[in-house]
Amino acid sequence: MTAFPDPDRPDLRLPAGSGTGHCPSLQREAPRDWIAGALARLRAEAEASAPTPLCFLSPKGRPDLRFAFKDESRQPTGSLKHRLARSLFVSGLCSGEIGPDTPLVEASSGSTAISEAWFARMLGLRFIAVIPRGTSPAKIEAIRAYGGDCHLVADPATVYDEARRLAQETGGVYLDQFGNAANVTDWRRDNIAQEFLAQLAASLGRLPDWLVMGAGTGGTATTMGRYIRYLDLPVRLCIADVEFSAFFEGVRRDDPAARCDRASRIEGVGRPRMEPSFLPGVVDQMLKVPDDASVAAMHVLSDRLGRPVGASTGAAFYAACDLAARGRQEPLSVFGLLICDSGTRYRDTYFSPDWLARSGIEIAGPAKRLERFLDSGTW
Ligand SMILES: Cc1ncc(COP(=O)(O)O)c(C=O)c1O
Repeated sequence: MTAFPDPDRPDLRLPAGSGTGHCPSLQREAPRDWIAGALARLRAEAEASAPTPLCFLSPKGRPDLRFAFKDESRQPTGSLKHRLARSLFVSGLCSGEIGPDTPLVEASSGSTAISEAWFARMLGLRFIAVIPRGTSPAKIEAIRAYGGDCHLVADPATVYDEARRLAQETGGVYLDQFGNAANVTDWRRDNIAQEFLAQLAASLGRLPDWLVMGAGTGGTATTMGRYIRYLDLPVRLCIADVEFSAFFEGVRRDDPAARCDRASRIEGVGRPRMEPSFLPGVVDQMLKVPDDASVAAMHVLSDRLGRPVGASTGAAFYAACDLAARGRQEPLSVFGLLICDSGTRYRDTYFSPDWLARSGIEIAGPAKRLERFLDSGTW
């Protein structure tokens, strides 16, 4: 074993004075007051926000079914990503990565960037969103309205590298929702799973049989799956993966390197790669939902609920109906779903007949099937 300090390796020698017991020292001035103030504001915002409300759908054709939706579109920034954005900021502040002059950069399909732009403005920080060029115009407007800059890229698979590059170039921090979503969320308590299941238990007197949701980062599904395992709850988790996405194949082949070459057409969900925050081990079932069916379900569900919902909510609803059609559980089966965001963000896309025709999305067939199921129970 080489003695240390090694006389032949001057680079490994301790500075002069080490023989006298002197300790070399580095000192950094952390802006502790600013960090404490920023954390206090984030805490106050979380404490002031009421749980997002539930709404229910009981289809006439299947009286044994109850769909329960937690309406995350009622978050201050309009989507379930409000929670993740807050957690990423808290983590960055507590880890000493974010200070008063730190520019923040994120790769996003839009919703997360809207929430992060909102929190960045709250703390007086610069924010840059790296988003695919095809992102809904209403989302781009919302990011800009909160003071964020939008950096649009042609190929959605390049958002990660581009965000990392921009963070380096600006001396900022890449928030990296895809890498960090599962770690910055406390899955044991004070999370969306605890809130949702407690609300369901209070309003229905029981837990749901299934939670059904899509995956973008996979972070929300991972939190749900970890929480129900941690407490050994009799609830199963079904993931609705969309047409152009790597998750389904990645799980089917047990291959973390699975890729999908085409970009997802369902905003917020479906990814070109297996994201690190998606943990296949917590998933009980997966369904692959065609895009026509996701958008059809978005339309049908918006009609039935009397409020517009987004296409990722449609994907999960279609999967829940397919799952429900596969079996009956008397006297009642409860499916818990999230309204991930509002359909008002998609007026110019999924709700526009011209846009649907241009995009080759045909909703008539799957919409009819869904209507028939809801009204007569036949799938
Ligand atoms: C509208 C919408 N729905 C669902 C999701 C999926 O959530 P998660 O990233 O937790 O998997 C996202 C994620 O960006 C989203 O924007």
